[in-house]
Amino acid sequence: MNLFIIGRRTQGKSTLAIYLARFIQRKVNAHTIFIFDPKRTYKSVPYTSDLGEFESLIEKSGHDAVAYQPFRQPTSDTENDRDAVNSEFVAFVDALAIERHLGVEHGARRPTIGPIIIIVDEAWYLQKSNFGNNALEKLVRLADTDKVYLIQVSHRPGEFYTGCRAQSDELYFFRQWLASDIEVVREWCGDEVAGIVETLPDHHVLRVEVNSGRTELFDRPEVWFSNIKGGMQPSPREGTEHDGLATVSASDGQSNAGATAIGS
Ligand SMILES: Nc1ncnc2c1ncn2[C@@H]1O[C@H](COP(=O)(O)OP(=O)(O)OP(=O)(O)O)[C@@H](O)[C@H]1O
Ligand SMILES: [Mg+2]
Repeated sequence: MNLFIIGRRTQGKSTLAIYLARFIQRKVNAHTIFIFDPKRTYKSVPYTSDLGEFESLIEKSGHDAVAYQPFRQPTSDTENDRDAVNSEFVAFVDALAIERHLGVEHGARRPTIGPIIIIVDEAWYLQKSNFGNNALEKLVRLADTDKVYLIQVSHRPGEFYTGCRAQSDELYFFRQWLASDIEVVREWCGDEVAGIVETLPDHHVLRVEVNSGRTELFDRPEVWFSNIKGGMQPSPREGTEHDGLATVSASDGQSNAGATAIGS
């Protein structure tokens, strides 16, 4: 499954990403969540800048998520960082040894492992509309099955490589307000979705199932909030995440509470 979280700065994209990942993890009994975190956002899960240590964190049981933060200082969001982030991402994907974990490769260490969930935060570093990092493209293809859940997080809808967009299963939009961004949403999902995305309140999210066109409004941000930048902590509202999550079909306006199908 290819999931995209799209929203301007500080809307709560990274916070939503770990929430969704944990929800899926419980639902499909997935392995540890792997996070590529170039801006060093996730401090509430075990994290490291050392790939060797990251590999041993992967092997250890007991963590629901682990983050690889390749740089010791937050990156500065400039074009100059792109090359470094792209090389680090290739190394990160190698370290995951996904084929081996899924049992696809001969000599698999864990042939019966559950599905894998990967969060790629700040995914804009790895692509432009006409360019995609090879390792990312490979992950996107692997995520075409229900064995791999890839959650890409970025600011603007036009930042995603067309080849990635073509594989999208679920989109989670925070508010966009630039006309050029709204146009991309319109082209991707149609007029109705574009109209809603333009007017979403802070931290609210519109979920779109690409194939069916089904939409759901996530309008209770407190349900999925957790302090991802704080110290290690349990996931919020363990086991009851979607109890009381009001979801409303944007198409017919009917309440659909509790019926959300994230990751299905
Ligand atoms: N559901 C929520 N309800 C209320 N506040 C939230 C929620 N999600 C995130 N926040 C707050 O918004 C701020 C930004 O959160 P987060 O880092 O997840 O956003 P982001 O969109 O990933 O930001 P950035 O663009 O910097 O990567 C934080 O202060 C966080 O505590
Ligand atoms: Mg973020």
